[in-house]
Amino acid sequence: MSRDIYIISVFVHVVSACIWLGGMLFLILAFIPGIKNHPDKVDLIASVSLKFRGVGAVALTLLLITGFIQLEFRGVQWNIDYFRTNPFGKVAGLKIIVFIGIIFISLIHDYYLGNRAIVAWKSDPEHAETIRLRNVSRLMGRASFMLALLAVFLGVILSRGW
Ligand code: HEM
Repeated sequence: MSRDIYIISVFVHVVSACIWLGGMLFLILAFIPGIKNHPDKVDLIASVSLKFRGVGAVALTLLLITGFIQLEFRGVQWNIDYFRTNPFGKVAGLKIIVFIGIIFISLIHDYYLGNRAIVAWKSDPEHAETIRLRNVSRLMGRASFMLALLAVFLGVILSRGW
C-alpha cells in the first residue's frame, strides 16, 4: 500500500473522528441545554438527532474503513496471537473492541431506545416510563461518548506509541 493512501486515510480518519465526537459534544454541551425552555424542544431534539444519526453512521463507517487501511499499512498480522502478544496488536485489538461497543450502543440508542423515548416524551412527558426511557437514552449517549474518547486515546497511542 502506498504511503499517499495511508496519509489520506489518517486525514479522513481524524476528520471523521472530529465529526463524531464534535457532533456528540455539540448536542450534549450546546444544543440540548440551549433549547431547554423552547416550546418545541421535543420536536427539535427528534429532528436534529435524526439528522446526526445519518451523519454519525457515515463518520463511523469511514472510521472503520480508514482504521483497517491504517492497520494494514502498519503491518498488522491478522491472527489472534498477534493481537494478544504484540504491543501494537494489543492496543489495536482493544480499539476494535471499543469500536464494536460504540456500534452496539449506537444501534440500540439511535434506532430503538431513542425513538421510543421521543414517542413517549411527545405523548406523556411526565409518565414514569417516559422518564425511565429518557434516563436510559441519556446514559447510553454518554457511554458512547466516553467510549469514543477512549478510541481517540487509543488512536494516539497507536500513532505515537506509549
Ligand atoms: C469512534 C471510533 C474512532 C475514533 C474516534 C478514532 C480516532 C482516532 C484518532 C483521533 C487517531 C489519530 C491519532 C493521532 O494521529 O494522534 C486514530 C488513529 C488510528 N486509528 Fe482510530 N478511531 C476510531 C476507530 C478506529 C477503528 C475502528 C480502527 C481500526 C479498525 C482504528 C484504527 C486506527 C489506527 C491504526 C490509528 C493509527 C494511525 C497511524 O498513525 O498509523 N480507529 N484514531
